[in-house]
Amino acid sequence: MNAKLLHINTIGCQMNVYDSEQIAAHMAQLGYQQTSSPQAADLIIVNTCTIREKAEQKAYSFIGRLARLKRKKSHLIIGIGGCVAQQEGEKILDRLPFVDIVFGTQAIHRLPLLIRQIEKKRCQIVDIEMAADTQATEPIIGLHRETSVSRFVTIMRGCDNYCSYCVVPFVRGRETSRQPDKIIQEIRTLIDNGAKEVTLLGQNVNSYGKKEGLCSFPELLARIDELEGLLRLRFTTSHPKDLKGNLIRSFKDLNKLCHHIHLPVQSGSNKILKQMNRKYTRELYLDKVLKLRDTCSDIAVTSDIIVGFPGETEADFEDTLDLIKTVEYDGLFAFQYSDRPTSPSVHLPDKVSDSQKKERLQILLAMQDAITRKKNQALVGSIQEILAEGFSKKEISGKSANGRQLAQWMGRTSTNNIVNFYHDYDAPDSGQAHSGKLINVRIEKAFSHSLWGKPLAGASTAKGVKGVECYAA
Ligand code: 5AD
Ligand code: SF4
Repeated sequence: MNAKLLHINTIGCQMNVYDSEQIAAHMAQLGYQQTSSPQAADLIIVNTCTIREKAEQKAYSFIGRLARLKRKKSHLIIGIGGCVAQQEGEKILDRLPFVDIVFGTQAIHRLPLLIRQIEKKRCQIVDIEMAADTQATEPIIGLHRETSVSRFVTIMRGCDNYCSYCVVPFVRGRETSRQPDKIIQEIRTLIDNGAKEVTLLGQNVNSYGKKEGLCSFPELLARIDELEGLLRLRFTTSHPKDLKGNLIRSFKDLNKLCHHIHLPVQSGSNKILKQMNRKYTRELYLDKVLKLRDTCSDIAVTSDIIVGFPGETEADFEDTLDLIKTVEYDGLFAFQYSDRPTSPSVHLPDKVSDSQKKERLQILLAMQDAITRKKNQALVGSIQEILAEGFSKKEISGKSANGRQLAQWMGRTSTNNIVNFYHDYDAPDSGQAHSGKLINVRIEKAFSHSLWGKPLAGASTAKGVKGVECYAA
């Protein structure tokens, strides 16, 4: 019998990427193999995102295009999962009647059962049950067939913070943390399958384990740091209000914890931060950034910012620009405020016009671009340790001046800078550039989103190398 084929289209954040891997692992139990071609698939799953209106539109436009496929191939099963599914439920079937199943963010483990039902009875199903039984929602481990160097591990789900613009608490449910032993077991399995770096995922990792009385997040990090075979550890995302001294110290104390923190500020105006229900002031935020840099001098700080939140005046926006200038972020994700039907800020007055939001976004991005370019330029000439991940996305290959075969590879610095480099297959020391190895590169060129480097001969020596000083501390 031919294997049944599954195509997954993942929209949105790393949490969705992780969930899609879980969907694939669950469906493998029913004999489904993944395909990159929607046309070839027997089952198409769209894992959706609803954080901003644009993400939701992207999902609907992809799903809309599937109607034609379904007409041509009547046995095709179409499933909509993720945050739009959780938010809209049955309404999706009214709008798109050719969809077979709508399943929510906490229904992934029930998917094989539901798909089997559809295969047998050709019925339509909506499962957006939120009563999370944390044991039942434990991910499948040991079925990972992906062998990439860098992997995500979800350590907690949901969020209890209720920032006024955000849908996450409504579509992902209450915050729940996984047991540390289960997390460690999963990471061990990933290491056995070739992972060298893991990124721990949670909406607010700083509050890991608090509700359940598990270990603290810094304690969890310390346990993971000891795992043999793991080279690097990252996490995202931290809520500034919960970032405390013990986590800040981890950047100095732990060998494998990368020197990068994503610390979303959202706005530089105290008035807007209050309206956003963020529970910190710009002064408190700036103080935490100072403490991070005092503890780990080369730590890279990145952030998320929303422009055009309801009531944001020119003066409030200036406060945000001023904060960006003060912090000098290593990278920024900036978004135009988007009204979401379930989030409380939908009811706030003084909405900012689309053209104003667009203009503010452009000003902000131009400012950040200059900062990132300056910072990247300062790295030219330095030697950086990178974890070689594999071929770069562009997969450019060519020949060197002496006719050697070259391929473009990529890796990241501890501070999360992307470094592209040529891997010279014929060079005597080419063995060092193999995927999953820490290698030293001399930075030769800087761009706004990446660096270009040249691998150096010999093994990486982290100590004393610019950019990784804290390793030696
Ligand atoms: N509009 C615009 N941006 C948003 N974000 C979350 N909700 C909204 C919204 N309604 C942004 C925040 C968050 C990031 C993941 O998405 O900056 O940190
Ligand atoms: Fe949304 Fe705020 Fe929770 Fe982040 S902390 S997921 S922005 S509610």
